[in-house]
Amino acid sequence: MGGLQWKRRVRGMLTLLFVSVCLTMLISHLLWPSITDLTEVEKCPACYGTSFCPAITGGFLTLHSFGAFAGFVNILGSKNVLFGMLGNQKVVLKKLGHTVELEQLDKMICKGAGLSSSCHVHEAIWQQGDLLHSMRQHVASQDSSLLLCPSVANLECLLSSVLYKTKGTSTEASLANIWTTLMINPEPLLLQVLQEQDGWPVTKYMGACGRVVVEEYAGEILTSYHNAPWLQRVHLAHQLLIAAHNFTDSHPLFGFYLTDISADNIAVDAQGKLRFVDLENVIVVDKNVPNEDRPQSWTIPHVSETFDCEGCFAFSSEDICSHRMSDHNFYAVCQHLLSPLAALDMIPGGLLHDMPPAHARVSELVQKCSESTEPSGRLRAAQDLTELLAEVLQQHGYSSMQPKSPSCSLWDGCLEA
Ligand SMILES: Nc1ncnc2c1ncn2[C@@H]1O[C@H](COP(=O)(O)OP(=O)(O)OP(=O)(O)O)[C@@H](O)[C@H]1O
Ligand SMILES: [Mg+2]
Repeated sequence: MGGLQWKRRVRGMLTLLFVSVCLTMLISHLLWPSITDLTEVEKCPACYGTSFCPAITGGFLTLHSFGAFAGFVNILGSKNVLFGMLGNQKVVLKKLGHTVELEQLDKMICKGAGLSSSCHVHEAIWQQGDLLHSMRQHVASQDSSLLLCPSVANLECLLSSVLYKTKGTSTEASLANIWTTLMINPEPLLLQVLQEQDGWPVTKYMGACGRVVVEEYAGEILTSYHNAPWLQRVHLAHQLLIAAHNFTDSHPLFGFYLTDISADNIAVDAQGKLRFVDLENVIVVDKNVPNEDRPQSWTIPHVSETFDCEGCFAFSSEDICSHRMSDHNFYAVCQHLLSPLAALDMIPGGLLHDMPPAHARVSELVQKCSESTEPSGRLRAAQDLTELLAEVLQQHGYSSMQPKSPSCSLWDGCLEA
């Protein structure tokens, strides 16, 4: 009898051990999935590219525990953003969409080829018809996260640094990669159009392997700096205003209006340098659109309206697209990041909260830049505020931080525009 009980106990313990080993394996697989599984490289060329695959297959990239939170979020099936190390460098891995969005993309590819929804996307991608035409249709739609307006005629020009990377040509496979990326999330394309190396305030794009892109880790998000010393916040506010100016004005052919500007989409590195890390939602205004495509209001600068919904970041893409220039980026930065109207759950009181009384003029300009409805009133206030913040910083020894205007490499064909 005693022997039987003992056997039962051992069996029970073994079962418990087996179940806990399985559970541990399952949890660690969900938290730190194998990078090779994540890439789904077998779907290429219905993927984002292969430039980063050698680093992955060579074992140089590892998922890292500083991304444990991201791993946890991944379990919940949301962001699909993971953190890793490439040698000593911190990197971010993005699948660019939620799992359901990626599944929908696969179904769309199968449907486009007239096949069943479980088809092989690496084959079906070749049967989508004219991919450039399909991309043009996509960016013309208000539902697209990258909206090119008022005309899509210069899409090739916009994407020239991605399309014509090698000797002015694009292979069929790279076109399929660009199409796939655009359909799910244009961020890696924009990071190659506005390159960090050229001085754009964005995170550095490092490459892609299958359905994963790799970006440089750009630091902690802006929300973590909410209670930083006032002067440090002035430094960040100054960089935000310069960034708003550069996105609006520094590209010779296009204006870039970010429509998801929030404190968790902006990162700040250990040196205090600020970068935008989420470029999924962008309106690109073609500044050199042919005369016949120009709306009547084209030459008048657009003034963003404050919509009647507390704390919400609302805008009209139709209005932004009807003007050669909009104050949208300044509206977003001033009202939704700097001013007391900023989102309560992210940055209560705004980034410049607790303004020292000696800097009342800063408060006044933040308010004007946030709320002005006069033609060019916000643009003027933003300009004055940028200069005033630069003076404050200079007075306190932040003199070395005057940023240069970013540059961009243009495909020859674009210069004629
Ligand atoms: N390059 C980066 N450097 C540092 N952190 C990053 C970087 N990219 C993303 N992150 C972090 O991961 C989070 C999610 O990334 P991202 O915003 O690109 O994903 P998302 O799914 O579009 O999120 P959401 O739609 O909620 O804005 C960011 O809020 C930020 O905390
Ligand atoms: Mg985001």
